[in-house]
Amino acid sequence: MATPHTAHDHGSDHQHPNDPEQEHQHGHQHGGGDQRNAWSETDPALWFTESFWDDRYRERPIWSGNANQRLVETATDLTPGRALDVGCGEGGDALWLAARGWQVTATDVSPVGLERARQAAEAAGVAHAITWEHADGRSDWTPAPAAYDLVTVSFVQFPRHELVAFHRKLAAAVAPGGTLLITAHHADSHAGEGTPFTADLFATAAEMAAGLDLDDSWEVSATDPTRDAVFPPGPDGQLMTVRDAVLRATRRR
Ligand SMILES: C[S@@+](CC[C@H](N)C(=O)[O-])C[C@H]1O[C@@H](n2cnc3c(N)ncnc32)[C@H](O)[C@@H]1O
Repeated sequence: MATPHTAHDHGSDHQHPNDPEQEHQHGHQHGGGDQRNAWSETDPALWFTESFWDDRYRERPIWSGNANQRLVETATDLTPGRALDVGCGEGGDALWLAARGWQVTATDVSPVGLERARQAAEAAGVAHAITWEHADGRSDWTPAPAAYDLVTVSFVQFPRHELVAFHRKLAAAVAPGGTLLITAHHADSHAGEGTPFTADLFATAAEMAAGLDLDDSWEVSATDPTRDAVFPPGPDGQLMTVRDAVLRATRRR
């Protein structure tokens, strides 16, 4: 589980962790106990479906609207081009990319989330740079091959046996010279006692890399770094250290 630590470590109140158990982590997001209960009270077979996520998004805005730390770390120095953001939710990452000159295709299984993201893009003046697509990553939906300079997916957790096929579709969408970024939660911080989640919902970065089995035309970095987050949300929250699984892969040719 996430471990509390002291306030002097704080330096990340703009982060946007976004996860199945996000109520453990965010100081800035909307939502709270009700959202967390949604997981416990729902059959795990429905956790990655349109109806589950539509219900959650319908209840209230969930995320901060800020870009995820791992995306910012990865994409700040990339030359803007075509980006695919899979499982975009309320659009924090897509808007950030669009504001930096990327042409973004942003997909999600939830039409309610997508509509909220679309409105946020209008309000931010970046709607012209984003195409929204309703797509279920577990279906036979396949992004255009070799079409994107950046393919990013933040905190879309599928059962392990479905992950390899999903990640391979995303890798196939990366154009020569492009980057694949997969940011996921790590079991260290998110599975086990006090959570509805079991470790098999989480892969380490090395496990994700092994599943992808990319050839030598790719340069791969697989790390499981930590970051700071606040739980429970709001001013009374405690700073926590949470671990991510981060796979970055650049396609050389
Ligand atoms: C934890 S949220 C992360 C949202 C966004 N990536 C972010 O970081 O703000 C997970 C997202 O994955 C989406 N999702 C869940 N199951 C999905 C599926 N089968 N296909 C595509 N997206 C899915 C949800 O609707 C939700 O927006």
